[in-house]
Amino acid sequence: MKKFVLIFTILFLFFCASAQKFTDLAKTPPMGWNSWNKYHCDVSEVLIMQMADAMVSSGMKDAGYEYVVIDDCWQVSRDEDGNIVVDPERFPHGMKYLADYVHSKGLKFGIYSSAGTVTCQRRPGGRGHEYQDALMYAKWGVDYLKYDWCGSSTQNAPASYTTMRDALYAAGRPIVFSICEWGSNDPWEWGSEIGHLWRTTGDISDNWNSMISIFERQEGLARYAGPGSWNDPDMLEVGNGGMTTEEYKTHFSLWCMLASPLMAGNDLANMDPETKDILTNKEMIAINQDTLGVQATCYRDNGNYQIWVKGLSNNEKVICLLNKSDEKKSVLVDFALLAQVRTMTRRFRPPSGTTGFGAPGGAGVPGVQRARRGAPLTIDNYRVRDLWEHKDLTLKESSMYIDLDPHSVKVYRFIRK
Ligand code: GLA
Repeated sequence: MKKFVLIFTILFLFFCASAQKFTDLAKTPPMGWNSWNKYHCDVSEVLIMQMADAMVSSGMKDAGYEYVVIDDCWQVSRDEDGNIVVDPERFPHGMKYLADYVHSKGLKFGIYSSAGTVTCQRRPGGRGHEYQDALMYAKWGVDYLKYDWCGSSTQNAPASYTTMRDALYAAGRPIVFSICEWGSNDPWEWGSEIGHLWRTTGDISDNWNSMISIFERQEGLARYAGPGSWNDPDMLEVGNGGMTTEEYKTHFSLWCMLASPLMAGNDLANMDPETKDILTNKEMIAINQDTLGVQATCYRDNGNYQIWVKGLSNNEKVICLLNKSDEKKSVLVDFALLAQVRTMTRRFRPPSGTTGFGAPGGAGVPGVQRARRGAPLTIDNYRVRDLWEHKDLTLKESSMYIDLDPHSVKVYRFIRK
């Protein structure tokens, strides 16, 4: 009997140890570069090395970008043992060599596959090979896996992603797990136990309508975001040519407000100064990377004109005025009132083990964001900083008119004095 209890306990502990995601990763939204938005299937070892070099020389690394991720099309087949085969022409030295190169630049290396039988470009998917692939990724030195949903047919989404999560964990190398399931099965409901980020919509395109309509679908998801678990409204299009500079500023600002992962998707080796300024705006990045890990919510919605607010640590906050219309707008902004707006904070989860996966209030339930208690701070407690102009506002009165160009934003950080 004693023996039975011992074996059962060992098996139980083994199961617990292998059934989780790596919890110490992506405590702030992941930042990096991904090949898909600009290069689609045109990926190669040379391109990835160039991008890693440019990430360092352009100042992107210094601004916080870290992961260099190859999206679809690096894989061509499986060998007779079922091992994934890397395209030998485009990646002649193999993936370990490339990962080593990326690591030698002080960066991290990411790769892509799909939970189904094929990827979206009909390359071999991970279905049925999860443990084998995870071991291979660990051997190569992969740090980030984007896992798509193509070829999944009638598969169950949480179960499929859980299999890969467990395979990654069993392989032993800490890997950020990016769930790319396009929001089809409400991944915000189950994603935080399985991955570190989950796509909330279909693919972004490099135009204003696509970007803004994805943004509009994020409201309501804020309570699911927090350190280690992020809503992912897809990768950045900044610098790819389909939007104006003003629109790219808006795109970047909104993604920073949403505590969204910041995965650049442009040619890092040939950025014009405007693109570089946007992507490396450290004051904007600081609000995205704030350790409180709170996603912005809409405070005022007047249709095309909106005010978004994101709570920051140290009782600070950031306000984003958004003009979605095609016309210039002049709006009267009451900064004294905005100073008093309570922001959301994240409730601590109960210690793991006290409740089961998916149980009410359990570890499987995302932390609920609550308004902060206590007396609101007044405008006298803050200076107000314009995060695109990089200067403090001179407030002669508590309200002032602010001009907003079409499709533009103004972003103000309320900094404690
Ligand atoms: C899907 C994903 C994209 C990209 C492509 C690659 O469409 O959503 O982000 O990874 O597949 O084929």
